[in-house]
This record gives sequence, structure tokens and C-alpha cells, in this order.
Amino acid sequence: MDIRSASLDDAAGMSRVLREIIALTGRERPNDAAFITAHYIANPASIRCSIAADEAGNILGFQSLVEAIAGNRYGVPMGWGIIGTHIGPRAHRRGVGTALFAASRAAAMQARLEKIDAYIGADNVSGLRYYEAMGFRTYRETDGIVQKMFVVGRENVA
Ligand SMILES: CC(C)(COP(=O)(O)OP(=O)(O)OC[C@H]1O[C@@H](n2cnc3c(N)ncnc32)[C@H](O)[C@@H]1OP(=O)(O)O)[C@@H](O)C(=O)NCCC(=O)NCCS
Repeated sequence: MDIRSASLDDAAGMSRVLREIIALTGRERPNDAAFITAHYIANPASIRCSIAADEAGNILGFQSLVEAIAGNRYGVPMGWGIIGTHIGPRAHRRGVGTALFAASRAAAMQARLEKIDAYIGADNVSGLRYYEAMGFRTYRETDGIVQKMFVVGRENVA
């Protein structure tokens, strides 16, 4: 598995990953290349958007880490990062998310982020378990949403 920064050429492969996740979970969300380019690859607030690819170059999944900007829709304080993880169902539970978080965490340390927020549906068991396993802990629960935070630069995996 190769972990690298996303480039504009990755938009189509990232879109395919999102469509496969939607087909599995039924959770609709924007997935076109223009949205992906604006929100992940070329987002001015991006700290790092990491891609996991297999030996043949197929995109298995990606993880975005952006800086919280004033008035962000997640209510996350400035100085924190906001993380999102999207891995195609065929690659689940093979350590892809773990490998992506190692890259995001290194980028968060380099960017001197204080904390990282993960915004997760309360019914998304795999998402909740994944972020717990990465060392995130719940700090806010509202309206079917669980927000977990990771303290950057501290070894806090239980
Ligand atoms: C949640 C998600 C990111 C996990 O990625 P992954 O590559 O499968 O995760 P890993 O294989 O690195 O798993 C790391 C650990 O997380 C936990 N975990 C991950 N998926 C789990 C599941 N379905 N059930 C229980 N624990 C799980 C486990 O502790 C796992 O370690 P283990 O396999 O040694 O037990 C992936 O399933 C995904 O992208 N799902 C769709 C989108 C989504 O829900 N995104 C996140 C929330 S917004």
C-alpha cells in the first residue's frame, strides 16, 4: 500500500470511493469531482489530504485534514484540525485507515495543531470504533452526531 498526498488527478478515483461508500451505507453525500477538488484536494484550509493506493495504483481510500476556520459548520474551535476518512468497502479492516492516520497525525504535529475533531454519525459503528482505536475520545454529542477529539502530540491510545 502506498500513502501519498492527493493531487488533482486523483479526483475521479476519490469520487469512486465515495460512491462505493454511499452504495454500502445509504448515506448520501456530494461525490462529484468538482466537490472533491474544492473540499479536499485544493481546499485552501487543507493541511494534508492523503491517499492510500494499491500496487496497481487504484485508490483504496483517503483522509482529509483541514484547519478549522472561523464559523465552520462543525462548531470546531480555531487552532484545531478537522478530519474526514473515506475508505472503499472492499478495503475495510485491512489497516488502510490506520496507515492514513499515521500520515495525518504527522502532518498535524508539523502544523502545530492542538487537537483534531472527528464528526461522526451516532449510528456509524465502524466510524466510532475506528476513531476510538486511533485515540480519539468523545467530547460532544448532539442530534445524532458524536464529535471525538484527538490531542495532538500525546500518546493517548488506550
Ligand atoms: C471507519 C473506516 C474509516 C475504518 O477504516 P479501516 O481502514 O477499515 O480501518 P482499519 O482497518 O485501519 O482499522 C483500525 C481499527 O479500527 C477499528 N475498526 C475499524 N472498523 C471497525 C468495525 N467495522 N468494527 C469494529 N471496529 C472497527 C478496529 O479497532 C480496527 O483494528 P482491528 O482491525 O485490528 O481490530 C472505514 O470503515 C470507512 O471509511 N467507512 C466508511 C466511511 C466512514 O464511516 N468514515 C468515518 C466516519 S465519518
